[in-house]
Amino acid sequence: MPLEPANSEELVLGFLAEAGDEFVSGEAISDKLGLTRAAVWKHVESLRSQGYRIDAVPARGYRLTAIPDRLTPLELRPLLNTHDLGQVLHHFEVISSTNDHARELAEEGAGHGEVVIADSQTGGRGRRGRPWASPPGRNAYFSVVLRPELPPARAPELTLLASVAICDALRQANVPAAIKWPNDLLVGERKIAGILTELASEPERVHWAVVGIGVNVNATADDFPPELREVATSILLERGTPAPRALFVAACLTALEGWLDRHAEDGFEPVRLAWRERSATLGREITVHAEGREVVGRAVDVDEVGALLVQTDERIERILSGDVVHLRTRGA
Ligand code: BTN
Repeated sequence: MPLEPANSEELVLGFLAEAGDEFVSGEAISDKLGLTRAAVWKHVESLRSQGYRIDAVPARGYRLTAIPDRLTPLELRPLLNTHDLGQVLHHFEVISSTNDHARELAEEGAGHGEVVIADSQTGGRGRRGRPWASPPGRNAYFSVVLRPELPPARAPELTLLASVAICDALRQANVPAAIKWPNDLLVGERKIAGILTELASEPERVHWAVVGIGVNVNATADDFPPELREVATSILLERGTPAPRALFVAACLTALEGWLDRHAEDGFEPVRLAWRERSATLGREITVHAEGREVVGRAVDVDEVGALLVQTDERIERILSGDVVHLRTRGA
């Protein structure tokens, strides 16, 4: 369901979430939100009954110590400090694909920044029609509707932009992610997140874009289908500690909005430079499977529209879309 305006329980939760590890007094909460102390206490009790852990210490106040690992608006909304992204949020326990639903919403006129998020997907899709494993209770699956002021030829910039944002959110979570061109997030050679960007264009501008993001957050090896166990990873597998999914999704949306704002203001160049810094592909020997042909060479750069430049024995090839295979480990 789309998000309704915040109710007082969400406001109390937002206040506690903003304070982080600090205690906030009942008085400060009631003054700030215009509630009685008894009402504050009632909301704290109700939040506890929904799985929030909230310390209450006389003379110090309340402190939020744990949020339940769910992705409903109640968990996500107090954590969002975005102006557009996620301000309208459509949450589902199960859906076929958040991208499919976001596309339908976009066709029906959904606004810039609307987010579809699900706890699990029965038909999660990856690039080139591949399935995207989407078990419940573990990972993050969400799609963002964008209405960028961009001509269709510049749409690939969004793909690289999204990968920079998700890379930043992963690094903030202490996971040393890097980007395989165009937008796979890897740790070492294992994939931790993928992005599927789909769009509809008018002759002059992109009508809508849907950026679908799947991140393996708390998946264990057993959660992956056998054929992926050697090539996929998750935040939990990398750090050894689970990540609260709502916090992580909020961090992704904040990072994505930050890069979208930067892109709207300064164009693609800062995104391109950021992408290069985070790249796992540049400088590597690669094979690219692109439009029915195979290009083998050294990845040397991404150009001003996000195309990959590959130095082969004969020439520099410019690849606009394709699947990259890294041939040797970096520095080998
Ligand atoms: C890829 O690496 O192939 C892209 C994977 C994208 C998966 C996400 S999960 C949320 C959204 N819904 C989908 O059906 N796909 C994307």
